[in-house]
Amino acid sequence: MEFDGCITIALSKGRIFKDTLPLLSHAGIVPADDPETSRKLILETNHPHIKLVIIRATDVPTYVQYGAADLGVAGKDVLMEHGGGGLYEPLDLQIAKCRLMVAGVKDAQLSDSRLRIATKFINSTRRHFAAQGKQVEIIKLYGSMELAPLVGLSDLIVDVVDTGNTLKANGLVPLEHISDISSRLVINKAAWKIKHRGIKRLVDALKVAVDERSSEEKNHD
Ligand code: ATP
Ligand code: PRP
Repeated sequence: MEFDGCITIALSKGRIFKDTLPLLSHAGIVPADDPETSRKLILETNHPHIKLVIIRATDVPTYVQYGAADLGVAGKDVLMEHGGGGLYEPLDLQIAKCRLMVAGVKDAQLSDSRLRIATKFINSTRRHFAAQGKQVEIIKLYGSMELAPLVGLSDLIVDVVDTGNTLKANGLVPLEHISDISSRLVINKAAWKIKHRGIKRLVDALKVAVDERSSEEKNHD
């Protein structure tokens, strides 16, 4: 692949890195280090013009918006909170799939006059309840949302749910579906213009990888 300048890709450790790795490898990009074992935050790759930066999942849109990274991979949940300013979102990578849900104890009242909702997704939560004409009090948390209703901090939570095991283990049930979530490729709008040729090749190669994987999955079913 030929590139017009160096390209920086922002990824978070854990499931996004793990699930993006095969797609990058399909596009011929292999990191020189494993972020699970290395303490490095900037990873070289086998390609001299492509490097990875390893940051918190929630910070990916910010790095890409400000051009500190040209591209990134972020969950739709994170992008909905960020708002998407300064970003293109050209490709659904169909990884880290889950659902953004309202959850609570089994017989939780959803019609109480002023429900308290614990979540890290404050914007999506406000939008969801406003669309139903409900005024809610939102309590911002940074994790372990499932604890909040158990200790009386909130009536309900809004969080991502995949298997439902975390809710179940804490005696909670999903109550309302807000949105299906998967991770998206995001691109800095200025970089898309300035480094168009290199970024376009990368996006095209990743698209082929996503398409091939989904047709393999279909054949497997
Ligand atoms: P931060 O470190 O910034 O607080 P985080 O801990 O939510 O973020 P991850 O757990 O790595 O980061 O999740 C990254 C993305 O993966 C989320 O934004 C979401 O889109 C998706 N995700 C989260 N939990 C699950 C899950 N249990 N199953 C599938 N996908 C998930
Ligand atoms: C996420 C989310 C839930 C859990 C849902 O947590 O905040 O707690 O996953 O997944 P489940 O429905 O499959 O139980 P986090 O990313 O912190 O935990 P994980 O990596 O253990 O899934």
